[in-house]
Amino acid sequence: MSPKPVILDVDPGHDDAVALMLACGHPDLDLLAVTTVAGNVTIEKTTRNALRVLSLVGCTDVPVGVGAPEPLERPLHTAEDIHGKSGLDGPEEIPHAGFEPDESGAVALIADTLRASTEPVTLIPVGPLTNIAAFLREHPGLKDRVARISLMGGSMGLGNTTPAAEFNIYVDPEAAREVFESGLPITMSGLDVTHQAGAGPRERARLRATGRVGHVVAGFLDFFATTYESVFGFDAPPLHDPVAVAAVLEPGLLKTRPMRVDIECESDLTRGETVCDFYGVTGMAPNAEVGVELDRERFFRLLYGALDRL
Ligand code: RIB
Ligand code: CA
Repeated sequence: MSPKPVILDVDPGHDDAVALMLACGHPDLDLLAVTTVAGNVTIEKTTRNALRVLSLVGCTDVPVGVGAPEPLERPLHTAEDIHGKSGLDGPEEIPHAGFEPDESGAVALIADTLRASTEPVTLIPVGPLTNIAAFLREHPGLKDRVARISLMGGSMGLGNTTPAAEFNIYVDPEAAREVFESGLPITMSGLDVTHQAGAGPRERARLRATGRVGHVVAGFLDFFATTYESVFGFDAPPLHDPVAVAAVLEPGLLKTRPMRVDIECESDLTRGETVCDFYGVTGMAPNAEVGVELDRERFFRLLYGALDRL
């Protein structure tokens, strides 16, 4: 099997950083490009963090396209309380980046990459969906070059930013609505499954033992653990974004259910809610495969294996 061509759209963010490493370290993925979006922190910081993480793992040949500095229609909402001021706070600073962003911005880089690929490409957005919505608006003719969108975002139940909304969808609900209405095949890894991917002390100790990169990852996950404990009372910080990558690598590790997902964009109270029609009561055709269960052991085995290679 030839490696699957993918593009990651990221807002690093600790879990985005691990998603980038998983994509770089696993031989069954061909990371064609990375695009950055404002989300956890500003676009300048998410871009700097993406370049640093890719440099750390030696992926300096992957073009990085700088994306949207703010959502389609709303002011940016960030998450320094979770990821720190830099977006990647931790005990040790990750070395400075060894390369610069591509001269193409995110949307142009996605379009050029899809045109150049010999086969349809899987998009893996793990931040607010602003870049993906902008790409779909500007290049509707390239939709057939998209194999699938495997996104981290949403929730069938509780939110983490408001009681109703998960962060990525909350930040840019209009973009999310356009992506879910696009007609493209979508796998949604929401909080229902990503909260099963908590990196507790045991997992962080195993990561620390996987060598240079694993040691750095364990370090910044220690920071991530402190904020998740203080803000949410979690005993382990969830590796949200790597789940969306793992779902592309080994679809079998994520149990999904086809359902209609609508995005609340009008109400201030429930803005950004992913309204998931689990029982099909609306009679509307499903527009997403929604993650309902994660094979946690298989997920971490996959992650350890990829980081061992870096
Ligand atoms: O709600 C979790 C999501 O928001 C993750 O993608 C995290 O990186 C933040 O972007
Ligand atoms: Ca993210």
